[in-house]
Amino acid sequence: MLCFQCFHAGLLLLSEPSFGLLFDIDGVLVRGKTPIPAAKRAFQKLVDAKGQFVVPVVFVTNAGNCLRQKKADQLSHILGVPISQDQVMMSHSPLRMFKKYHDKHVLVSGQGPVLDIAKNVGFTNVVSIDMLRESFPLLDMVDHNRRPKLPSLPVVNLPRVEAVVLFGEPIRWETNLQLIIDVLLTNGNLSNAYETALSAHLPLLACNMDLMWMAEAHSPRFGHGTFMVCLENIYKKIIGKDLKYEALMGKPSELTYHFAEFLIREQAAERGWRAPIRSLYAIGDNLMTDIYGANLYNRYLDERMARKSTKAVANMVTGAGTPASVPQEVDMDNGWESELASPSATSCKSILVCTGVYNPHMDLPKDASQCIKETVFHGHRDFRFDPALVEPEKIAEDVDAAVELIFEMEKFVNTV
Ligand SMILES: *[C@@H]1O[C@H](CO)[C@@H](O)[C@H](O)[C@H]1NC(C)=O
Ligand SMILES: [Mg+2]
Repeated sequence: MLCFQCFHAGLLLLSEPSFGLLFDIDGVLVRGKTPIPAAKRAFQKLVDAKGQFVVPVVFVTNAGNCLRQKKADQLSHILGVPISQDQVMMSHSPLRMFKKYHDKHVLVSGQGPVLDIAKNVGFTNVVSIDMLRESFPLLDMVDHNRRPKLPSLPVVNLPRVEAVVLFGEPIRWETNLQLIIDVLLTNGNLSNAYETALSAHLPLLACNMDLMWMAEAHSPRFGHGTFMVCLENIYKKIIGKDLKYEALMGKPSELTYHFAEFLIREQAAERGWRAPIRSLYAIGDNLMTDIYGANLYNRYLDERMARKSTKAVANMVTGAGTPASVPQEVDMDNGWESELASPSATSCKSILVCTGVYNPHMDLPKDASQCIKETVFHGHRDFRFDPALVEPEKIAEDVDAAVELIFEMEKFVNTV
């Protein structure tokens, strides 16, 4: 609530926002390489005369094979307003919080500048699949043309791999599948034989679980989620146990939204806005990622509020204090969560736009969840299908209409 201050002071003060915006990119702002016209109009409404944002804005994409700065530059060009890299969140961005792995010897899998990306999020000791392949030339045998021509011995001066990070789909799936399985089953030392009796495998962190994505072709294309299905099933088939992830990031994971909320809070603090950011709005075109993820995080925030008020009541009953003096919750005390401190947001509302994957004019049943319920579930193995989570809070024609709708809901006016 914004104009409370204006009334109070009796004059028009510069308004401070109490909400922040999370934008998906593909299908909302661009379609492939083509900008969606509504995007430019929407962003004119979000900046002042100097091109500064009047509300905190973060771009949340599951894309991952480039650096944040490159994405920020593309967005600045497309939207006609300056975007900083601190406003861009890629599927791998939350890795910055996993500090306990940053100095470990980590194997990374993906394509594009994976070593640079890994360094950029904080890893200091990284090995790529190609580097492993060169050190152990006898391992990658599927492609006959890539087998070693001469008898060769492994160069065994590599330190043991201590964790594996999956950034995105690689180019030669058979090579990555083979070497990742090798690393997991030798407990990080490829000179060893398989130890199939291991009680647990090395920590495994994965970014971007999208099974498929829409490119220029008529039918969807394999995404990183498809690669993960292969890896999970090969591991299970060989060992008889489930492959376990230390963390899954990228939409719809809760972790992604925790991190986005943190970026929103940081932006508000940097601008000197004192009003806490209470409401988040997540605008996207994909029910299974954007809407599911925002609703899942909203559910977390709801439960968190409920826990807080239960604690407050319990403390009152025991005479420990009034709600106002209840100490900050103590359940965020370890791991990555403590890196972020507690969220100020109390809700995260999902807004579906019709310029991307979701198309209301196609011959689909009206009820979105109905249409998904009757098909197979394309989400990740570790995410349950829940019809309530794919129900958007609002539907807007495009991103410009979505921004107008949010301004209305928040009674917000860009005064500049
Ligand atoms: C890997 O295992 C081999 C054979 O057991 C051993 O000689 C070597 O020291 C190990 N390397 C590391 C880095 O632990
Ligand atoms: Mg999208």
